[in-house]
Amino acid sequence: MSWWSNAVLYQVYVRSFADSNGDGIGDLPGLVSRLDHLAWLGVDAIWCTPITASPDHDFGYDVSDYLAVHPALGTLDDVRVLITEAGRRGIRVLLDLVPNHTSDRHPWFRDPSRRDWYVWADRPNNWVSSFGGSAWEYDPEVGRWYLHNFLKEQPDLNWWNEEVRAEFDRILRFWLALGVAGFRIDVADGIVKDRWLRDNPPASPEEEWTPRPRGQRFVFNRYRPETHEVLRRWRRIVDAHWPPRVLLGEVMVREPEAWAAYYGRGDELHLATNFRFQFAPFEPASLSEVAEASLAALAEAPWAVPLWHGSNHDFSRFPTRWCRGDDRLVRVALAMLLTLPGACILYQGDEIGMEDVPVPPERRQDPVGRDPERTPMHWSDATNGGFTSGDPWLPLGDFRLRNVADQRRDPNSLLNLTRDLIRIKKRLRGPYQRVPSGHGCWCFRRGTATVELDFEIPKVRVVEA
Ligand code: NOJ
Ligand code: CA
Repeated sequence: MSWWSNAVLYQVYVRSFADSNGDGIGDLPGLVSRLDHLAWLGVDAIWCTPITASPDHDFGYDVSDYLAVHPALGTLDDVRVLITEAGRRGIRVLLDLVPNHTSDRHPWFRDPSRRDWYVWADRPNNWVSSFGGSAWEYDPEVGRWYLHNFLKEQPDLNWWNEEVRAEFDRILRFWLALGVAGFRIDVADGIVKDRWLRDNPPASPEEEWTPRPRGQRFVFNRYRPETHEVLRRWRRIVDAHWPPRVLLGEVMVREPEAWAAYYGRGDELHLATNFRFQFAPFEPASLSEVAEASLAALAEAPWAVPLWHGSNHDFSRFPTRWCRGDDRLVRVALAMLLTLPGACILYQGDEIGMEDVPVPPERRQDPVGRDPERTPMHWSDATNGGFTSGDPWLPLGDFRLRNVADQRRDPNSLLNLTRDLIRIKKRLRGPYQRVPSGHGCWCFRRGTATVELDFEIPKVRVVEA
């Protein structure tokens, strides 16, 4: 059995996890100083959001050097220390790989000999950016338009160019050689664009299934079949490494069959995000329907490991969105995420039921409004929640309500529940089997164990035979 087949991955938004030097920004030494919390919790691996150099228009997702660490977050030596210290605690480290686009300040973008590394057009087509507005920006120096599926500071790379592919092979190998356990791949379903840059068709209202409507179906700027070739290429690279490494791709598709396709024939992603599940309303009929359709989509691929998550740094946290701050519902959500078969991602703070924090306009950092789910971790009731001794880059919110230190002391806390559930998860064996149950409940068997999720009372019961 591979290590990720029943794993709990913990997503660290590094800027907001722990600040070691009082500049108000979380960093790698801060993360190292909190590894004992993660070891105590029992997670198998961490995924760090981008730690590479970036002008931070999109906080690390606009990379200006793929082989250098962002000075605000640390140094290459800090990464080595992180890998070693995490490893000593049985925790693997995954880094975020951002291959779809670079920063517009990346030297490649201004290098005339590398023009063809990006996607250019003489006239814009109808594609819209995932962040809204046209996906094209005119470059007066070049006299043409460049594609940006995200911010205009994030020009899309041209993955038809073999030099781009070869460059990324080197980038992967660099970090693998350093000892990372794999990558979370940003926009893993969208790397290659339509060769002819054809217009996207409009989307009907029922085709808008994400919290950010796009107005059109992403047919030609995303989800192209040729992207699978690139995933297979990376899979060959990671598979040549020992101990085994893992590719966790950000896949944002609605249909379970389309999601399953990113696992390939065991030769593409090891794990693909399941946003249909994350975006499902918090009620047993919808969630069980998506979960069962997802499992069914992988039925012919017994080696493929399903993946469940409720929060991340891009969308409202599940304790707010699903549970409206009700701890009893948070318990149901945590139990659901941690007892379904496969792997699970917990986003930092999920383990204490951390909620979104309202961020006033004058403290706004993210141009597209994702600050509330990115605010600093609540470690204790000390100044700034124990996150920093300086001025935090984003407001803390009410860290007295739920924090790690208080919840460690309380045996009935969400934190202790999460830890218990992780231990239970490790013991659960056997496939998912639905058990008939009353209204408002979702019950299923995992081998000889039974999981009862009652969304109405609300309460949770896991009976291990
Ligand atoms: C998905 C990342 O999670 C998000 O934070 C980022 O803005 C976009 N991809 C673009 O890189
Ligand atoms: Ca810092």
